[in-house]
Amino acid sequence: MGHFSFPRFVIDQWTTIPQLEPVDLSGQTVLVVGANAGLGLEAAKHFARMKPGKLALACRTKKKCEDTAKEIQEVIGYGTISCYAVELADFASVVAFAEEFEKAEGRLDILLYNAGVSTQKYERTTDGWEKNLQVNLLSCALLSILLLPLVLKTSYLTAVTAHRPRLVFVTSDTHYWVKSIPEISNTSNILEKLNDKDYCNVKSVMDSRYFVTKLLIVLFTRELAARLPPSKAIINTVNPGLCHSGILRDVSGGLPLKVFVQIMARTTEVGGRLIVWAAIADRHREEALHGKYISDMEIREESELAISKDGYAMQRKLWGDIVDVLAAVAPRFKEVVDAHLSN
Ligand SMILES: NC(=O)c1ccc[n+]([C@@H]2O[C@H](COP(=O)([O-])OP(=O)(O)OC[C@H]3O[C@@H](n4cnc5c(N)ncnc54)[C@H](OP(=O)(O)O)[C@@H]3O)[C@@H](O)[C@H]2O)c1
Repeated sequence: MGHFSFPRFVIDQWTTIPQLEPVDLSGQTVLVVGANAGLGLEAAKHFARMKPGKLALACRTKKKCEDTAKEIQEVIGYGTISCYAVELADFASVVAFAEEFEKAEGRLDILLYNAGVSTQKYERTTDGWEKNLQVNLLSCALLSILLLPLVLKTSYLTAVTAHRPRLVFVTSDTHYWVKSIPEISNTSNILEKLNDKDYCNVKSVMDSRYFVTKLLIVLFTRELAARLPPSKAIINTVNPGLCHSGILRDVSGGLPLKVFVQIMARTTEVGGRLIVWAAIADRHREEALHGKYISDMEIREESELAISKDGYAMQRKLWGDIVDVLAAVAPRFKEVVDAHLSN
């Protein structure tokens, strides 16, 4: 399915999602970024039920993290949890978190970048980036690349076992709604254009900004996966579908949206189940998941735009832009790209 189909969406939303088949996570370290609420909290609980060697949680504050760890301990009875603070709208915080994590943890088997924001209001972060763009895309790219050496070390440690480390980035089926963005396709610098204040002042631009960032994370993931062989790590995106959570808190839509969500949305537990599936499933044929978009516990085709010639051109341009921006944020970002990712 390269295009969004409303009947298909309704069927998906109302289809019963199977329980997760637990996998053996003993000795493994799982990191959930954005773990204190919504889907991230439920995903962390699902991982905790599988009793990993270590469950690491990253939340906006240490307190949110510790409260989450306490809840997981009480509800699931699992307590091998480490807590980290990270503010994803601040690159310095992401860099500091990556350094702290690498120093403290000996391995990273699963990275779930779940955190995300959806705001139609133009807000600039202290780093000067439009907030959706920084939290949903740039900080995800920064963190995953800075943690890549640890992932590769883990890959080496597990070379004799059947499974690879997994990097899973949460996207959305709303990326299908982005039909074309000619002003982006035709620009020499995608990120600069998306960050341009005048451009963001156009109402339709900010109205669709969340969907665009979710498309860009699909493109980033494909490019990253193309540069790293699946023998080293399996990287993919996952769509949880529409779920009850706090993600719509800043989205206009009034009563009709509320009613629609009430009728259509999945529980956060089901959404958490779906994103964890992308991180643990198909260990016997995990290469098949590399670079893929996963929805409803299966590989689905990305949007028509994503799979078009324009989409692939945008993907390559975006990669270059991301590397330029993040190399200036952290020199280590570029060192990791040069050392470990092919051209
Ligand atoms: N719910 C849906 O219908 C739906 C559908 C498709 C995709 N998704 C995706 O699913 C993921 C989880 O969203 P959700 O629905 O569970 O929403 P949510 O309840 O709003 O949870 C978002 C999580 O991200 C964290 N976060 C946001 N901005 C952050 C920042 N600057 N620094 C650190 N952490 C930050 C939040 O922490 P705080 O609590 O501190 O803000 C929270 O833990 C997102 O990527 C979202 O785009 C959701």
